[in-house]
Parts: sequence; C-alpha cells; structure tokens
Amino acid sequence: MKEKILVTGGTGYIGSHTTVELINNGFEVVIIDNLSNSREDVLEGIKKITGTKPEFAKFDLCDTDQVENFFKKHQDIKAIIHFAASKAVGESVEKPLLYYRNNLQSLANILEMMGKYHIPNIAFSSSCTVYGQPEKLPVTEQSPILPAESPYGNTKQICEEILRDTLHSNDELNAISLRYFNPVGAHESAVIGELPLGIPNNLIPFITQTAAGMRKELSVFGHDYNTPDGTAVRDYIHVVDLAKAHVVAVERMINERQKAHYEVFNLGTGNGFTVLEVIKAFESSTGVKLNYKIVDRRAGDIEQVWADTTFANEELGWKAELDIRTMMASAWKWQQYLLENKEKYFD
Ligand code: UD1
Repeated sequence: MKEKILVTGGTGYIGSHTTVELINNGFEVVIIDNLSNSREDVLEGIKKITGTKPEFAKFDLCDTDQVENFFKKHQDIKAIIHFAASKAVGESVEKPLLYYRNNLQSLANILEMMGKYHIPNIAFSSSCTVYGQPEKLPVTEQSPILPAESPYGNTKQICEEILRDTLHSNDELNAISLRYFNPVGAHESAVIGELPLGIPNNLIPFITQTAAGMRKELSVFGHDYNTPDGTAVRDYIHVVDLAKAHVVAVERMINERQKAHYEVFNLGTGNGFTVLEVIKAFESSTGVKLNYKIVDRRAGDIEQVWADTTFANEELGWKAELDIRTMMASAWKWQQYLLENKEKYFD
C-alpha cells in the first residue's frame, strides 16, 4: 500500500514540484489548496508528468470546520508537507493581519488535527529570511535568528516557534523545518512552474517576462553593495532539487531516522550569485539578451546571503545538483510554454 502524504498548497510553485517528486517516489498525494495564488489545472500538469492526478480538496485551511471534516476522512495520512501560506513581502506590510491570520491560523489548525488524529509528521516551509542579514557567511542552522523585516518574515519565525512549542507538549509529533534560500526554475517538462500574479516581485520571473517582451526592462536593485560587482548576492536553488529534499525529509520522519523530534535544515546550493551574474547566466544559457538598468536599492533587501548546506548534505543525504544555467534555461522554457498558452494564462 502506498503511504499517503498531505501536501497543503500543492497546486502552488514549490508544492506542485514536490507533489511530482512524491508521486515519482511511490507516495500517494492528497492536496489541499484554496487556489488563492494558483490554478486547478496545475493538477493536469502533474498528471502529464507522473501519469497520476492527485486527489484534490479545495478549501481554506483557516476554515476550522472544513479542516476537521477533511481530517476525519483522511486519518491514514502518514505525513504533511505544509506549503500553503501567503508569501508576498510587500503585501504583508500592507495587510499584516491577513498574513498573521492565514499563515499562523492554518498551521495551528493542522497541528491540532495532527494531535487529535495521531498524524505524527510534518515538514514546514520556512525561509532563509529568518536569518536577516547574517554577520557570518555562509549561514548555518545555528546562525542567529534576527528580528523580522516584514510581517511575512515574522510569520515564518513564529510558525517555527509554534512547531517547537507544540512538539514540546506532545512527543508523538515530529517536525522538520526547511529553510529555503531562493527557489527558481521549473520542471524540465515545462508543464509546471512559477505562476506569479500580476507584476512579479521576484528576480527570475521578472527576468523571463522581460526576455519575453512582457516587461520593458529589468531593474537591478542596487549597485553599491559590498559584493564582487556591487549587486546583491543570493543562493538560488532549482525548485526540483528543493522538491527532492522534501521527499527525503518525509522519508526521514516516516522511517524514524530523526535525531530529534524537531529538526531544521537549510536548503540551498551553498553558492552565492550576484544579480549581474544571474543575468549573464540567463543570457548565456538561453541566447536571449536582457534589457536591464541599474537603479537604487530596494527597501528591505539584504546585501548577501548563502547557505552552509553541510547539515542537510550529511544528515539528509541530499545535495542540490542543478546549476544556475540549468535553472535559467528551465525558467525560460516554462516562460515560453506560458506564452504559447497565452489565452489561458494571461487574460
Ligand atoms: C524575497 C523575499 C523573501 C522571500 C523570497 C521568496 C524580499 C525582501 N524578500 O527574497 O523574504 O522568502 O523572496 O521567494 O522581498 N532583484 C532585482 N530586480 C528585480 C527583482 C529582484 O534586482 O526586479 C534583486 C533583489 O534586489 C535581490 C535578488 O534580485 O537582490 C533576488 O530578489 P528576489 O527574487 O525578490 O528574492 P529575495 O529578495 O532574495
């Protein structure tokens, strides 16, 4: 019998790629998503790649009655991967209560059900944003957590605390927080990928939309950072590598290989790239020239961050394999797929 994994936010960017990897590794997946930032036809993309369309329940995880109904019917879930959350930094500053309610209430509801129905394992989507601008690079899981720059970042910190406290109170439960660095790229089939609503905030969707002629030019935020070429440095990780780490994390919990009830892992490549290096990698791997200009720093941006991935490499036996050129080429292939299906995606 296949083991059943609940993926919340499973039609989203990282959730859909993780669902593919779970199915390819023999798991049965059931998805909960309210489709607030994704589309139901992602399920068709997942089916195209894996041959399996996962079971799908559309509701909001803040709706306690629906959550209860769902778990009553799915008591055989072996582990939960909790992606569902609001994730736009700027919007979180405008609408903090929306972020606190969505991101905290949903986790609290899930943890309550895990206790009630004896579902022991949860992997949580955290972020390197919890480190702020670290004093020492690369950052390890022991690097200090700095006061959050935004309500979004704060929800990630608080959710980690909610997990830690809940696990203290119930030793039947296990959790792994996965702190993502900058997930980019798309599945090689280019039938699933990142689908930003409106004008993208993140670098790679902005690059691919500029290359596709949908945006006039890319603004490079800041040229006076203390980095090799003055632009900010991030640890970009291919979303498929990231997705694979979730499968390993779930297997670790199900097979009781954890060293502690609560563990935290950095998920990055361990390599930092400047914005200009990313642009060059995009141009050389796709052959498409990018129209860009240097502008002022973006408020709230940090100068540089990249991961020490030793703990994930050694303990999870996982390592990111795909390089920056592969990330860019796959993001571009996905953007072309979107353009070919314009009437469906851009109305
Ligand atoms: C952002 C969030 C982070 C969140 C992550 C999710 C901020 C301040 N941080 O990370 O909390 O976890 O997204 O994916 O929003 N850049 C440009 N031009 C652009 C867009 C970006 O130069 O049009 C630069 C940024 O200044 C940054 C780098 O590209 O140096 C990456 O930016 P982005 O993709 O937005 O990610 P983060 O800011 O690292």
